[in-house]
Amino acid sequence: MNVIPTGGEGSPSKIPDDISHKQQQDPREDEIRRYCDAESEKAHAFLESRHLVPQRAISPAEYDGAEDLCTGVSGSKKIHVAGAPHVLKTPIFTKIFRSNYLAILDKGLPVKHRDVSGSDDSFPDFPRKEVLGYRLAKAFGIDVPHTELVRVGDKTIGSLQTFIPGSRSMAEVSGSIQASDIDFESMLKILFFQFATENSDGHEGNVLLINMPPSADEDEFVPPYRAVPIDYSLIFPRHQTLYPRELSLIKRGVYKLLENRNIKVTKLLSRLHLTPDIADRPDIRPLMTDREHALLVKNLTALQMAAKMVQEPLTTSEFYDLFLKCRQKIEKN
Ligand SMILES: Nc1ncnc2c1ncn2[C@@H]1O[C@H](COP(=O)(O)OP(=O)(O)O)[C@@H](O)[C@H]1O
Ligand SMILES: [Mg+2]
Repeated sequence: MNVIPTGGEGSPSKIPDDISHKQQQDPREDEIRRYCDAESEKAHAFLESRHLVPQRAISPAEYDGAEDLCTGVSGSKKIHVAGAPHVLKTPIFTKIFRSNYLAILDKGLPVKHRDVSGSDDSFPDFPRKEVLGYRLAKAFGIDVPHTELVRVGDKTIGSLQTFIPGSRSMAEVSGSIQASDIDFESMLKILFFQFATENSDGHEGNVLLINMPPSADEDEFVPPYRAVPIDYSLIFPRHQTLYPRELSLIKRGVYKLLENRNIKVTKLLSRLHLTPDIADRPDIRPLMTDREHALLVKNLTALQMAAKMVQEPLTTSEFYDLFLKCRQKIEKN
């Protein structure tokens, strides 16, 4: 399977020319292509086996008008589809992927996916995770931009997310705004999303801040921003479970803004639907591998158990410790 989006024979798309031009730059890129094709085949086979291959296709003209958004390996682009801005993620050879791969070949080392992409997760699998993350967030009761699978070119599958205009990532505004400028509950919801999905990429660059509408009541303080999680490509990381070995990955994001603050867990959980049965919903279960399903059930069960044991007031980090204890208890049983 070809992972490079192509416009088809005789198509006006600039994509094939662009790729072949780059290919001539280094003959070893054939090896990268074979590697990517194999990974892409696996991701595609999974979607096919679950009857999830999408009908909707991005046209060459839409693709050609897209602009790059990302610096990472996932190839995010801002693209206009049906007159509205979206974010398209496709498994293409981004510059960073190519240079990582070639650097490993230069050293004469065997290529390990982790060294190329920074994770064991295969990037052709990212679109599936994007849609899974979106559906889970929605099911939990978190307001996130609509995301669906789309075809790009012949057989490549990408994810298409509604673009949120006027938003900036938390990383972009870091230093110029304070935690109190951001709606507390929206950050907490993100944190619970990370706990449940073991998001290993929940850093500040993957939290968007959008303007909050002013309150009708003049006396009510409304913080200027609300936090929205994006970039779910690395939920349920493949290499190992995040708990307890790679906790620092979760702690890179909103956690550090919240860890010492008291939270009203009972109130928050009454507004979120963090119950294990979500894992079996018909719109969610087919998108998950068995391993991911088991992890989700475990995390949601642990969150439920922790919520029952809570004695308020308690801080975010105290709740987190309680959650981890419950998780361990489930594992022992
Ligand atoms: N739905 C969205 N609305 C607005 N901007 C977005 C959206 N999704 C992504 N972006 C912007 O594009 C950047 C890259 O997207 P992201 O999903 O984080 O991909 P990656 O980090 O893999 O390149 C984000 O940091 C953000 O600035
Ligand atoms: Mg990102």
